[in-house]
Amino acid sequence: MSDSFNTSILIFGASGDLTARKLMPALFHLCQQKYVSADVPIVGIARKEKTDEQFRAEVLESLRSRIPNDRFDEARWLQFSKQLFYRQLDISNPSEYVALKESVEAIENELRGNSEATAAGTPLAEEQPRHRVVYLATTPSLFAAAVEGLHEAGMIPDRASASNLRVVVEKPFGHDLISAQELTEQLARRLRENQIYRIDHYLGKETVQNILLFRFGNAIFEPLLNRNHVDHIQITVAESQGMEGSRGGYYDTSGALRDVLQNHVLQLLCLIAMDPPSLFQAREIRDEKMKVLQALRPGASGSVGNWAIRGQYTAGLVNRLPALAYREEERVQPNSNTETYVAMRVAIDNWRWAGVPFFLRTGKRLPKQVSEIAIQFKKPPLNLFTTVECEGDLCDLVDTRPNQLILRIQPQEAISLRFSTKRPGMQYQVQPVSMDFEYEDHFQAHLPEAYERLLLDVIRGDSTLFTRSDELEAAWKFVTPVLDAWRNSSASPDLYPAGTWGPSAADRLMAECRAAWRSPR
Ligand code: BG6
Repeated sequence: MSDSFNTSILIFGASGDLTARKLMPALFHLCQQKYVSADVPIVGIARKEKTDEQFRAEVLESLRSRIPNDRFDEARWLQFSKQLFYRQLDISNPSEYVALKESVEAIENELRGNSEATAAGTPLAEEQPRHRVVYLATTPSLFAAAVEGLHEAGMIPDRASASNLRVVVEKPFGHDLISAQELTEQLARRLRENQIYRIDHYLGKETVQNILLFRFGNAIFEPLLNRNHVDHIQITVAESQGMEGSRGGYYDTSGALRDVLQNHVLQLLCLIAMDPPSLFQAREIRDEKMKVLQALRPGASGSVGNWAIRGQYTAGLVNRLPALAYREEERVQPNSNTETYVAMRVAIDNWRWAGVPFFLRTGKRLPKQVSEIAIQFKKPPLNLFTTVECEGDLCDLVDTRPNQLILRIQPQEAISLRFSTKRPGMQYQVQPVSMDFEYEDHFQAHLPEAYERLLLDVIRGDSTLFTRSDELEAAWKFVTPVLDAWRNSSASPDLYPAGTWGPSAADRLMAECRAAWRSPR
């Protein structure tokens, strides 16, 4: 029986960008690969009046613009389009949900009736529990209203069969600790924690999932990942893009700390720093991540400025093309103090990591699109050899290069280990070299999109790759004092020209620990 047996997918916010850019392509691929079967209705729900046919035409147009012609499978599309439906709903109006429920049931019966007619021997749908996945691809201010509406219409099953309804929510989950707690409370009024799937799409990335496999599926690296061997760890999520489209409107109320560091970067930190779980299961993994967040501390004492730096880009060149200053971007306030860059030095106060600095940075309009985790090991205790770096016959004497293990999340997904080797010749000269594993060389298949994996996990009822409410709260607890300090400060963010690696103040965080940011290749 397929993972999606007797499942329906309802997407609230079906006219939005997320549905077009991520959800529909992901569902199309899942259907194409038969992870989602042909009897699964996918019901788009939004405020605008629209027929099923119009909705299908819009989805087709958006898929065509994303999938190259030679890879677009017409036959599959025909099949997929039969699974697509549209229903109009004002999410904030509870009286409209009964009609929605009846409509959804009619669609479910129609689609299953058709598939049962062709699949003799399949048990009747009525005999099986019906699973519904409700994807709230809307603004968070509508989450509570949507859940109330579902409750009013009797679409939220009772305790015993709670897992038959799964609700997926998208970030931002609040904009600080208090608002995140309020949101959690609102959802908890009607839903149990195991019904709520909070998406952090970074966790759906293949290379992010590989962090745990790499650490706990190999015996040779894990014994080194602790304070005895690691000098420091750097986590970078760099983006070259700025405020494309009308992104500035949202971003100006958010900033780099809320938009990326509080979620994606802290999740990467948890995965690289956590202890091995006793079982590879949702609860055990999330318990270990939670312990990391509980042990998270500022990396320096005194004011926030001693360990957290914010920056904002000015005009510059990115990939040799001129880029506007942040304050000149569409829908950004001309006097905005929103940070487009943040760097932090943090510590994890536990037995494994005491004394090891972790450096985190993320920003827009940096020179490259790259996400990576770099683990820098301690240097050998004695410097017995001269280290050189050579290009052809030209060699320079350099400082001993410590070993580095780089987990490259994207793009050109890879794992590299830097070590020293003897340079051939009559002297004992050391040259740093790198041993690289590149996904592209080893695996022919393209890496699945994060949303494909995450949607399938919701359908399967596996919450391992989703953020639990206590993790969310712990992450907000850590970053909220920084947001407060910035809000109460009369200072503006440090400026950096677009196309550079952020403000120079961020280098200071590193220099104080005799370290330097990597320039990812
Ligand atoms: C999103 C942020 O969560 O992640 C965006 O809102 C950011 O601002 C994006 O660009 C980065 O994700 P990815 O997968 O493109 O690295």
